Amino acid sequence: MLEKAQQLKLQFEEKVNTAKTPADLEQLRIEFLGKKGAVASLMSELRNVPNDQKKEAGQIINEVKQFVENTIKEKNIELQKLEEERLINAAEDYDVTFPITEEKGSYHPITLVQRELEDIFAAMGFSIEDYDEIVDDYHCFEALNIPKHHPARDMQDTYYLSTNQLLKTHTSAAQNAILKKYTPELEADRPIRVIFPGRCFRNEKIDACHENTFFQMEGVMVDKDISISNLIYFMKTMLSEVFQQDITVRLRPGFFPFVEPGFELDIQCTICGGKGCPSCKDSGWLELCPCGMIHPNVLTAGGLDPEKYTGFAFGLGLTRLAMMRYGIKDIRVFNSCNLKSLSQFENATFTSPDKEVK
Ligand code: PHE
Repeated sequence: MLEKAQQLKLQFEEKVNTAKTPADLEQLRIEFLGKKGAVASLMSELRNVPNDQKKEAGQIINEVKQFVENTIKEKNIELQKLEEERLINAAEDYDVTFPITEEKGSYHPITLVQRELEDIFAAMGFSIEDYDEIVDDYHCFEALNIPKHHPARDMQDTYYLSTNQLLKTHTSAAQNAILKKYTPELEADRPIRVIFPGRCFRNEKIDACHENTFFQMEGVMVDKDISISNLIYFMKTMLSEVFQQDITVRLRPGFFPFVEPGFELDIQCTICGGKGCPSCKDSGWLELCPCGMIHPNVLTAGGLDPEKYTGFAFGLGLTRLAMMRYGIKDIRVFNSCNLKSLSQFENATFTSPDKEVK
């Protein structure tokens, strides 16, 4: 009996070492511990053992049974772990839990407008730059000729961090870094031409026209002899491209400490052609883009000699443009995460501002 029990144990040890999955182990469990398994059949042989040896033989079989049970338990834990690791590794390439769907996602309307503008600017020789959302006071204000306690800061209250940093209130916050980075262009006798789209933040009470988080696209051009005529011609050409029709622009004086002179650029209403309609509040004009000639102090802060170089800057409201482009009447749509609203623009062409988006 002892011999048979030891043989059974050896047999089991051999097989358990080849088990690779929890399913293999279950097979083994049935084979050895099942009702008609090897251990049970050994037990049934106890009948034939002489009475005085029965106790000892029973003990031996029980020991083997215990051994088989414990080994299967331990091996099971080990194999479960391996199985989990295998699934995790497989999921790195392929997420098995991802629902199968025919539906594709869509671009956000602001992304669509941004990409369209980037194409237009790139065709005009502009580079495209990305810039931080968290900036310091120097870049957001001081370098832009807005010293501490300047009243112009009132309009641009934002979210301050405990690190003395803040969420940028306008894309102009990148001007200083851009001028410095692109100085080699001027040295190589080429103009600085850069656009830098970005997300901006202001402490704003939210309603249909105001959001605390919105997008702008800033642009600068610097060279020898850049004048207001360059600015006007350039803006007109660019906006005609954006709206895919000939655009009439007008400049009104506007105050921004980092430009001198500064302007508010209006475009003649594309809906009524300037006659006056609800979209332009009967004025015939739509306010679109603040701009101006870069202030000498800003050029100096950017390491450029204002006696030698001049340039213009403009700050297109991307969010505003997307509203005009797609006829979105409520700015809150953009940050709503409402896919029903946001997914309808991918294939949209020009939409009349009268067509309401809910
Ligand atoms: N940064 C200004 C704003 O957000 C807009 C602007 C940009 C004005 C460039 C002039 C030139 O209000």
